[in-house]
Amino acid sequence: MEVIILPTAEEASEVATRLVSRQIREKPDSVLGLATGGTPKRLYEMLVRMHREEGLDLGRATTFNLDEYVGLGPDHPASYHRFMVKYLFSHVNLTRERIHIPDGLAADVPAHCAAYEQSIREAGGIDLQILGLGSDGHLGFNEPGSSLASRTRIKTLTERTRNDNARYFGEGEEVPHHVITMGLATIAASRMCLLLAFGKAKAEAVAASVEGPVTASVPGSLLQFHPRTKVLLDTEAAALLTRADYYQWVYNNKPAWQTDL
Ligand code: F6R
Repeated sequence: MEVIILPTAEEASEVATRLVSRQIREKPDSVLGLATGGTPKRLYEMLVRMHREEGLDLGRATTFNLDEYVGLGPDHPASYHRFMVKYLFSHVNLTRERIHIPDGLAADVPAHCAAYEQSIREAGGIDLQILGLGSDGHLGFNEPGSSLASRTRIKTLTERTRNDNARYFGEGEEVPHHVITMGLATIAASRMCLLLAFGKAKAEAVAASVEGPVTASVPGSLLQFHPRTKVLLDTEAAALLTRADYYQWVYNNKPAWQTDL
């Protein structure tokens, strides 16, 4: 796990954008795992700018989103489908048939989840998985207590997550209780993970995920077992890390052949 701490979310998003765009340039048919929410918005905006101004070509890439609310269709303003269209899909040249998002309206949820896993396998697995972190340590919508061996399935949100996400819903509108999410083993099978966390509300979850014991009680801690994970933080999200100085020293003093950012 490489922990990279930048002064601001903007700078951390720039580094994330360089990593994702490099992945796409080096392997144009990359399979990307995508997250939604406030954290990756700037990353998507920066990728859109690179597509428009620097010819970043997503035409051969495949995408799999982490999660979707059960009961919300693609046109619901708070659905993750709608989010992706708004911030990324409608601005870049991804091929419609290679975009995958769990279907919140699936009639047979277990069958849909199994088919989603099958699609990931058929695409050759995920090359680069972009992740945010819940304030309760969730990854995807794998809430604390999720099996580290879990695959795509239905999950029930904690009240904390429902409250955190109420801001994306209309006044008086209920945040769904259920979601479909890639499992922790699905995420762990990605060849590279990029975890982004910004702001002081994430500091506890970051410290528990990066420096705490690996436990299903903190799903983010699963990444300690992952062989190629980069954790991109702003100073506020890194505030409770006990080895922050060391991570910064490592990042600033890499051997020349390792300075890939
Ligand atoms: C979203 C997802 C979630 C979010 C997390 C943080 O697809 O899987 O794990 O990454 O809830 O959300 P924000 O970025 O809104 O703080």
